Amino acid sequence: MKNYKLVLLKGDGIGPEIVDEAVKVLDKAADKFGFSVEYDEALLGGCAIDAVGVPLPDETVEKCKAADSVLLGAVGGPKWDTLPGNLRPEAGLLGIRGALGLFANLRPAVIFEPLKCASPLRDDIIGKALDIMVVRELTGGIYFGERGRKEVNGSSAAYDTEMYTVPEIERIARVAFEMAMNRNKKLTSVDKANVLESSRLWRETVLKVAEEYPEVELNHLYVDNCAMQLVRNPGQFDVIVTSNIFGDILSDEASMISGSIGMLASASLNENKAGLYEPIHGSAPDIAGQGIANPLATILSVAMMLKHSLDQPQAADAIENAVAQALEKYRTPDIYTEGTKKVTCKEMGDIVCSLL
Ligand code: IPM
Ligand code: MG
Repeated sequence: MKNYKLVLLKGDGIGPEIVDEAVKVLDKAADKFGFSVEYDEALLGGCAIDAVGVPLPDETVEKCKAADSVLLGAVGGPKWDTLPGNLRPEAGLLGIRGALGLFANLRPAVIFEPLKCASPLRDDIIGKALDIMVVRELTGGIYFGERGRKEVNGSSAAYDTEMYTVPEIERIARVAFEMAMNRNKKLTSVDKANVLESSRLWRETVLKVAEEYPEVELNHLYVDNCAMQLVRNPGQFDVIVTSNIFGDILSDEASMISGSIGMLASASLNENKAGLYEPIHGSAPDIAGQGIANPLATILSVAMMLKHSLDQPQAADAIENAVAQALEKYRTPDIYTEGTKKVTCKEMGDIVCSLL
């Protein structure tokens, strides 16, 4: 029987509650589909700062490197907001992305049919369905470029650098083209090539990689135009590939169109396809510990893990179907509408298990 080694980074806020429910669902899927999962836990973010003084302990990196995959809850909270940049929980997140080489961030924005009314966009703008995959470069660009402070003409100044190498652009472009090949063969590359040199190299490189994928229909958009098009006509998009910072912004926008940020999963992959999986919502410190968080994005992150890292696509489909079925009748408070039954975080986990 295939056995997988998983590291859980429960993190802060609602992180522990939602990860517990996702683990429950994964165990049920393992039972049903004939594999087993072994868990280890490690610290990341605020809980790591509290326990050992740094947001990303070496031990966490070692454990994650040795694992088949990593499941992350969420990190951060007001308690740690006043710490210097390199000691904030977010630094732990960037650190683990860098340490594991997680250069490809997949952020699907989908509308679940029963939640369609939650989208802030009108029905006629959404159209029949919404299913966008944002492929965000995650270990380069301005997030990891040289930054600092200096004096300019007697005043304090600060700078951050956006830089991409050709191999960095090529590998993320390939992930996006492959993704497009498995979907509707439509790819939009987003840049700011009318202004930025790094974007001009981005576009040139994406065009070169496109020669390997003649079947994929490729177009380019400037990031400002893309932001506008996403709310004007989101149905025009299938796969979007873009840089770290543009992807950060556009993936939040795309997720909001789906109306339920509490529902969206994400995957961050490296060259070996061992990935880190996490819900795209944050640690929601305001509702932590109350048992009312929505565990579905974390449960759907487990489904992504089964598909992209553990090679158990049937189990992944089964979880996605169970979530869709659960939504017909049951809702956590964040997505509650009249006519459905309001349930707790734990109840939602149990319901998904029972529908598996
Ligand atoms: C995200 C988050 C992070 C990012 C923060 C928390 C560092 O916004 O995963 O999108 O900017 O990448
Ligand atoms: Mg973000």
